[in-house]
Amino acid sequence: MLIHAVTTDLTWQFAADVRAGLTRAGQKELPSKYLYDDVGSALFEVISRLPEYGLTRADERLLRRHADDIVDRLAGPVAVVELGSGNGRKTRWLLEALCRRQQTSYYPVEISPSALAQCERELRDIDSISIVGFEREYLDGLLEVAAQRAANQRLFVLFLGSTIGNFDRPAGVKFLADIRRILEPGDFLLLGTDLEKPGAQLVRAYDDELGVTAAFNLNLLARVNRELCANFDLDQFAHEARINHAERRIELHLRSKRTQTVRVRTAETTIELREGETIWTESCHKYAAGEIVEMAADSGFRCEAQWIDEEWPFAENLLIVE
Ligand SMILES: C[S@@+](CC[C@H](N)C(=O)[O-])C[C@H]1O[C@@H](n2cnc3c(N)ncnc32)[C@H](O)[C@@H]1O
Repeated sequence: MLIHAVTTDLTWQFAADVRAGLTRAGQKELPSKYLYDDVGSALFEVISRLPEYGLTRADERLLRRHADDIVDRLAGPVAVVELGSGNGRKTRWLLEALCRRQQTSYYPVEISPSALAQCERELRDIDSISIVGFEREYLDGLLEVAAQRAANQRLFVLFLGSTIGNFDRPAGVKFLADIRRILEPGDFLLLGTDLEKPGAQLVRAYDDELGVTAAFNLNLLARVNRELCANFDLDQFAHEARINHAERRIELHLRSKRTQTVRVRTAETTIELREGETIWTESCHKYAAGEIVEMAADSGFRCEAQWIDEEWPFAENLLIVE
């Protein structure tokens, strides 16, 4: 696979984001995109196989069952762009269906180099596929692919795994509108969204018995230690999956077990944490099926079709640019 890798030094951006998030007044935060270094991506892959985390299996069941129907709805020759592909495993169902009809270019866009490499290993054996990976932020990668598209080619953008849920609701609609602005009439977006379910089931999904999600969350502090010369003592933080009913989301936090001071040398900052204070690391919003149709309309798409998994409520939504 050809990979367009990032050549600029991202450490300074990471340091600036950490400084901003940990020194802000009120709730301390770290951006969830930093959860995915090599270790984080490997841990996420394990999470997606845990019995408590039915989300990835539901997403995959829908893609496996409906790949032909989804692909039949795509007019003309299409190139596939996947935002935040991860290991790409479940994308195989769509790519195989598409490659039965046409030679297919697949462009995974990922900030995690190890996930991108894994994605290529996972999918390169498909007949009639060419894979070009972009180690980029979502919209930067999409812009680059869109700039290279052939005259009669449609783009089929994938945003799976309910990764949209990491944005709060207004930011999610804005993100869809940003994607829409890069696309052209006749292009498609397949959006995977996790639907609302009982709170206890959600807490189990994000606070599993084996502690893999806890390790995934704590790895963010370990990454700050490794890459920004910080001295977080991981034993002094606890993983917490918290339901926010008003916002209809699960929040991941890291709770400080005692009052402590942490130095982040590369970010030139020292932070004080009180006992019980938390650092908010990720949100996973949950949706009603009808809400996705409205989000699509509010961002300039039309929802062409929706497939819902009953076993673990999850919706695959095919949105079209008119
Ligand atoms: C929740 S995982 C989902 C992975 C896969 N799509 C799935 O459904 O299993 C989110 C993925 O998006 C990537 N990611 C997170 N923020 C990103 C960003 N701003 N730009 C590009 N990729 C990003 C992560 O590295 C990770 O692989």
